[in-house]
Amino acid sequence: MWSVAFTITAFLAMSIVRWIYKWRNPVCNRELPPGSMGLPLLGETLQFFAPSSSSDIHPFVKERMKRYGPTFRTSLVGRSLIVTTDPDLSHYVFQQEGELFQSWYPDTFTQIFGKQNVGSLHGFLYKYLKGMVLNLFGPESLKKMLPEVECAAKRHLKLWSEQDSVELKDRSASMIFDLTAKKLISHDPEKSSENLRENFVDFIKGLISFPVNIPGTAYHKCLQGRKKAMKMLKQMLEERQVTPNKLQKDFYDYVLEELQRKNTVLTEAIALDLMFVLLFASFETTSLAITYAIKILVDHPHILKELVDEHDAILCKRQNLDEELTWKEYKSMKFTFQFINETARLANIVPGVFRKALKDIKFKGHTIPAGWAVMVCPPAVHLNPSVYKDPLVFNPWRWEDMEQKGASKNFMAFGGGMRFCVGTDFTKVQMAIFLHCLVTKYRFILVKGGDTVRTPGLQFPNGLHIKVSDR
Ligand code: HEM
Ligand SMILES: *[C@@H]1O[C@H](CO)[C@@H](O)[C@H](O)[C@H]1NC(C)=O
Repeated sequence: MWSVAFTITAFLAMSIVRWIYKWRNPVCNRELPPGSMGLPLLGETLQFFAPSSSSDIHPFVKERMKRYGPTFRTSLVGRSLIVTTDPDLSHYVFQQEGELFQSWYPDTFTQIFGKQNVGSLHGFLYKYLKGMVLNLFGPESLKKMLPEVECAAKRHLKLWSEQDSVELKDRSASMIFDLTAKKLISHDPEKSSENLRENFVDFIKGLISFPVNIPGTAYHKCLQGRKKAMKMLKQMLEERQVTPNKLQKDFYDYVLEELQRKNTVLTEAIALDLMFVLLFASFETTSLAITYAIKILVDHPHILKELVDEHDAILCKRQNLDEELTWKEYKSMKFTFQFINETARLANIVPGVFRKALKDIKFKGHTIPAGWAVMVCPPAVHLNPSVYKDPLVFNPWRWEDMEQKGASKNFMAFGGGMRFCVGTDFTKVQMAIFLHCLVTKYRFILVKGGDTVRTPGLQFPNGLHIKVSDR
């Protein structure tokens, strides 16, 4: 009897040891990058999500770079993963999209963003949707959008200046959401009974959370928020079917036209997932960038001064001060664009870009096995001291001659290659025009908050409260 029990226990123990050994030493014909797979199942997930208050590369990545070198293996939320901080490999991953690598996001992301989200689409359907989106946010549309963006910025700034203090992250998110929602679905928050943005707020709170879907968890709230927002978007689409927009067509009208065409690849489900991703991608990222930019201006008066000078000079050249901002004036904001680049470099809003290896890939003596996930780490590239001198110093002037130093290869705030962010120009328009309206008419002081935390995504745990007043 005892010997049977002993045999079973011994067998179990051996199996577990073997399993753990296999877990920590995955099979690969050639040489895997060094690294640790952490605990069984959990991997190194907890370390990855650990909050850090520094602007430097997240400790999870930084410690492993020191120990293992620029490319290492790990395991996150049950997936074997290669993390790379090597600028050459990062660039290569972006360039080889669709050939050696394919856009891939963890299952929790697919649950959250829908099976048909742009990130998981490939091939024909992807190209087709991208075309639709580019149409909406491409240079021609942006030129026409300029007055609208200016008008929205002016309206919101005026409201803010009438208050004792405003929390900028929330207020700028609301400003950008209104603008994007108007372009996409003609959503007017003042005329709508339900608040579409509120559902997105619940959604975002749980986005970077541990994926346990039971009532009470942030993740559960996140999925509920998505469900409610999707229901509203669907309702709006159905209403539009009954009463089409005749005067100013929005994205929904194009979607409906397309849905009625014969042989179309578009379905209602795809269109709704796309709408959701666009609304989310546009206001969360851009409002973080704006908030970060203002925090920098609060802390660096000499940068603010240069910005004010540039925008005052634009107004000085005008015949009539009440005129709308022109495309030519917008394009002339040289320092502002340097400032925006530097903001994107240091804000590091996107901590990781995910791909999947389609084949075994050899790179600098290591092999990335087919099927493994790969995470490109833009912050590590942006904080590389051999490209950006004193990388943690906010210095817009460094962009003067960046192009010669290979800026395109060492700047990936908006991704790269085929999947380069379609909203880049839209973001730049919104930031530049907002800054223009702010510094030419108002001044602002910090009231409270302004701390940043990376988990590993950028967050403002106590907001950024400022007082905006007339200049
Ligand atoms: C500061 C603002 C923004 C940042 C930092 C940012 C960052 C990024 C990054 C890094 C990617 C590449 C993801 C990948 O390769 O897997 C991306 C893709 C994308 N972004 Fe943005 N983005 C911003 C603003 C916007 C805006 C305003 C929109 C919407 C109009 C938008 C829509 C998209 C879409 C649809 C994609 C997917 C493109 C594709 O897969 O081809 N983004 N963004
Ligand atoms: C900002 O960065 C992009 C990407 O590297 C570069 O093409 C552009 O010239 C930069 N802008 C300025 C003003 O330096």
